[in-house]
Amino acid sequence: MGFFLKSTQLDHVLLGLMALAFCNGLVLGLAPVISPPNTTTPVPAPDPPKKLNATEEFLEAHNEARAAVGVGPLEWSQKLASDANRLVRYQRDKKECKFAEVSNGEYGANQLWAGGLAVMPRAVVNRWVEEKEYYNHTNNSCAPDHMCGLYTQLVWKKTLELGCAQATCVKEHVFLTICFYYPPGNVAGESPY
Ligand SMILES: *[C@@H]1O[C@H](CO)[C@@H](O)[C@H](O)[C@H]1NC(C)=O
Ligand SMILES: *[C@@H]1O[C@H](CO)[C@@H](O)[C@H](O)[C@H]1NC(C)=O
Ligand SMILES: *[C@@H]1O[C@H](CO)[C@@H](O)[C@H](O)[C@H]1NC(C)=O
Repeated sequence: MGFFLKSTQLDHVLLGLMALAFCNGLVLGLAPVISPPNTTTPVPAPDPPKKLNATEEFLEAHNEARAAVGVGPLEWSQKLASDANRLVRYQRDKKECKFAEVSNGEYGANQLWAGGLAVMPRAVVNRWVEEKEYYNHTNNSCAPDHMCGLYTQLVWKKTLELGCAQATCVKEHVFLTICFYYPPGNVAGESPY
């Protein structure tokens, strides 16, 4: 099976379009991490690397990219996460996991469409951060024929809160991620930081 990734970025998100979202079936990404069964080894082993849950992983990946350019960390918003969760479930149940087509709302939004396999939160964020290569902060411009809006939203200094959700369309083999940002970034004429 092939593996494809597509990203999209929307300045603002119209929450009215989520009204039909309905909870039914599988949603991945924000479920608690399941601990492995107890080991029988009596000897204390060295601490394993800390296993982050999806929330922590989304936050850490965002905040590392922000710190790399001297921008303060985001905080997780339960409201943004549950709104993202409603929208991603709507896209799963009604839209075969296509990108949400929403605009002119109160949140910023980054999305990632992955065909073929599930993508961990850090890999999702790293994909968006790849745009950094094309972004020139000196004059706040993006290289011709490239997009920088996913990255500039992610590091937008005036954005303070983050909430993300992921869902799988089993039949279509698609894994969709949506992150919401508040206040929204990518304000025309402003530099991200
Ligand atoms: C993830 O871990 C944080 C603590 O760092 C906790 O507050 C939060 O409830 C956990 N989230 C899930 C979905 O388990
Ligand atoms: C970024 O833009 C500035 C101002 O136009 C320019 O001097 C600089 O060379 C650019 N940097 C890159 C990496 O293109
Ligand atoms: C920014 O600088 C780059 C590289 O010098 C240049 O190609 C681009 O036209 C400049 N953009 C703006 C908006 O000044």
